[in-house]
Amino acid sequence: MAFNKSSAVKTQYVCSNCGATSAKWTGKCNSCNEWNTFAEEVVAKKNSAQAILKTTAKVSKPIHQIESNSESRIVLIENELNTLFGGGIVRGSLILFAGEPGIGKSTLMLQLALENSGLNILYISGEESETQIKLRSERLNLNNQTCYIFSETCVELLSAEVDRMNPDLIIIDSIQTIYSNNVDALPGSVSQIRESASTLMNIAKEKNIAIFLIGHITKDGSIAGPKLLEHLVDVVLQFEGDKNNSLRTIRSYKNRFGNTNELVIYEMTSTGLVENTNPSDLLITKFDADRTGIAIGCCVEGSRPIMMEIQALVSSAVYGTPQRNSNGFDYKRLNMLLAILERRCGFRLAMKDVFLNIAGGFRTEDPAIDLAVICAILSSNEDIPINPKICFAGEVGLSGEIRPSQKIDIKINEAAKIGFEKIIISKYHSKLQKNSGIEVFPVGNLTDMLSLVFG
Ligand code: TYD
Ligand code: MG
Repeated sequence: MAFNKSSAVKTQYVCSNCGATSAKWTGKCNSCNEWNTFAEEVVAKKNSAQAILKTTAKVSKPIHQIESNSESRIVLIENELNTLFGGGIVRGSLILFAGEPGIGKSTLMLQLALENSGLNILYISGEESETQIKLRSERLNLNNQTCYIFSETCVELLSAEVDRMNPDLIIIDSIQTIYSNNVDALPGSVSQIRESASTLMNIAKEKNIAIFLIGHITKDGSIAGPKLLEHLVDVVLQFEGDKNNSLRTIRSYKNRFGNTNELVIYEMTSTGLVENTNPSDLLITKFDADRTGIAIGCCVEGSRPIMMEIQALVSSAVYGTPQRNSNGFDYKRLNMLLAILERRCGFRLAMKDVFLNIAGGFRTEDPAIDLAVICAILSSNEDIPINPKICFAGEVGLSGEIRPSQKIDIKINEAAKIGFEKIIISKYHSKLQKNSGIEVFPVGNLTDMLSLVFG
């Protein structure tokens, strides 16, 4: 079959930053002044309104007449993944699965394809050969008779194969290797990604097939093909983790059919990824009572409580400008907390190097971690250890007040379950359930908290 570029295909240049169009390529966008953002794109052929009216009898419908198709979800073997999607994958949905190269995207997707043996799955690989995928499946020790591998990257040929095979689920590894014959640009370019993704979206919607698009992330964290896929797809999942550590997380940033900010945790083993339902165990080391610079914080990611070990090291700055370094915690927020300690509590940290680390390569955006961060820093600065049976959950405000944190009951229950004896929280929580397993200390500001912890 030949798919030569038809002479009728018209192209234009589109700025990937602001969407301005131009007939010619230009280095600088005249409307947003960004450099090197113009990419070639196919102009869709438009039929006249009259012609469309003759061929279709489409009319608007009252909302109560529209069927919701609530049953049409694919329920996977792995429960955690089902929760992430809000009760299974909706048929006809387009899912972007993004992550840095080498983190384990292909491994997880192949695992999903091989574990769900009741489903007809088409795994399209533009990055690995059939033999490589076979070797990986042997390493995972999984086999599924209805998982088909197709090494092809032309989207028109993929479409023909989908027509022939009619699968339940398609996995595209990766969207950056797929190209369309209608666009005269290299695979991975903005116009190719946009064109291929919209063709795949049409396949998903017309044939009611769920499609996973694996996408590589660039260094700055944006999904290559400047965020344009995020608007198009129904679900955005991000696979994260430290390559030197076995812990991996999948977060949902956008989900048209369920909650966002849900989280699933995996551990990379020698035989693939294994779900981890108790990450707190992996994140907290059983440390000695005399170690300084360690505090345990309690966060909630999605609906899951996680206890994290915060490690801090404060030392005198050797050079004029002190170094500040943070792993897993927002760097700007660290600077803000240091400024609060300086202004509100009188600690002299301006000429100190401060290094902060969340153990296990974990990352959180829950502000409830603030209290633990502050205590770890002070414990290192003053060289006073914190009782390992105390944990913290509270956000710190600019005036040094301890603000309430979300889902506090879940956090207190988790701390009690793990075996902590005391938890320090904000005094501004209005309704608090009783928990007999742990002593709860509500505090109003940093000064109260410091006298409670450091005496
Ligand atoms: P891969 O899925 O190829 O990453 P991506 O598709 O995101 O680029 O994963 C590659 C890494 O995973 C590689 O460094 C080896 C490791 N790995 C394991 O540790 N155990 C396994 O069972 C498999 C299959 C891979
Ligand atoms: Mg891969």
